[in-house]
Amino acid sequence: MLLKTPQLLSIGTDNGEESAEAERQQHLVRAAALLARGAPVAVPTETVYGLAADATQPLAVARLYEMKGRPAFNPLILHCTDLAHALELGVFDETALFLATTFWPGPLTLVVPKRSGSAVADIAVAGLDSVALRVTGHFAMRALARHLGRPLAAPSANKSGSLSPTTAAAVSEQFGGELDLILDAGPSSVGLESTVVACLGSHPQILRQGGLTCEEINAALGTRALLATGESAAKGAGQVRAPGATLNHYAPRTPLRINALHIEPGEAALLFGPQSLEGLNQASAVRNLSLQGDLKEAAAHLFQMLRELDQVGAKMIAAAAIPNHHLGTAINDRLTRACAATHLSR
Ligand code: TXA
Ligand code: MG
Repeated sequence: MLLKTPQLLSIGTDNGEESAEAERQQHLVRAAALLARGAPVAVPTETVYGLAADATQPLAVARLYEMKGRPAFNPLILHCTDLAHALELGVFDETALFLATTFWPGPLTLVVPKRSGSAVADIAVAGLDSVALRVTGHFAMRALARHLGRPLAAPSANKSGSLSPTTAAAVSEQFGGELDLILDAGPSSVGLESTVVACLGSHPQILRQGGLTCEEINAALGTRALLATGESAAKGAGQVRAPGATLNHYAPRTPLRINALHIEPGEAALLFGPQSLEGLNQASAVRNLSLQGDLKEAAAHLFQMLRELDQVGAKMIAAAAIPNHHLGTAINDRLTRACAATHLSR
């Protein structure tokens, strides 16, 4: 089979120089034209890179599922230009509206009841009567949805079950032969997927930990604080699940162990903070998520460093303990899943 090479078009960052603006617009117009024809385009966001398709074209969305090898019952996030656009697609209660106005644009996805009569293809929401909506902090996805005049269905740009990409090169590695175009804005600044919150019942509920911390959300919500998954039944709020939040998500190919206190010969080490681990000099490769012990920096590095350690041919990746608060809970969530995948499939 002859594989094509995707074109990598640089669209810079939000704070790019004025002179690059015209070129950036040209690239976005070209990407929107591909999307309008039903072709997928990889697009940067501040969380991770997404694989985008016009959410109103069932065939284009089906192609995303096919490319990702994703079970069709796992619905996609719809990316909107702004809150007004999102309000056309979903029904926002008071809490959802508050969260959207407080945290959008940003690393937050809201699951709300689907508004009837919208043009979104059923396959994009996997036939559910709720929708996951997001207005990203990076301009690219918002600008593309505006150029296209439609919402974009965009899951993370990785094969189902593997690590989300935080660079254009990581997207190219997985989908190089299947994509015409990857928009490149450098490494994703947050590096973890968006936090998913459902506003479907009496209490907002966290479905997936991510780039926006529970502490930040709860500080804003005050007395309406988030329910953890599992807490909901007790409060009579009904159980909502993120269909994609299965245990064996987010796995590198190399087995992984967490809370490592020492390194065995030949293991690849993933450290956090200034302290070393016993046996580190025998590691086949070492990465430190953040020498300063900064959780935000660690989140931004997590997937890229896991990907790098995955490529050194180690028998095991040993990850040091990460403090379990703020972004640390989302980092630990991803590491625990990768670790569970080790136990499930090997
Ligand atoms: O950071 C992110 O969120 C990235 C960027 C590209 O936006 N996207 C991403 O999408 O991670 P994806 O498809 O890999 O994950 C979306 C998650 C899945 O766990 C899915 O099950 C959940 O959102 N989800 C989508 N629609 C839902 C719904 N109606 N109810 C509950 N969960 C839903
Ligand atoms: Mg994903």
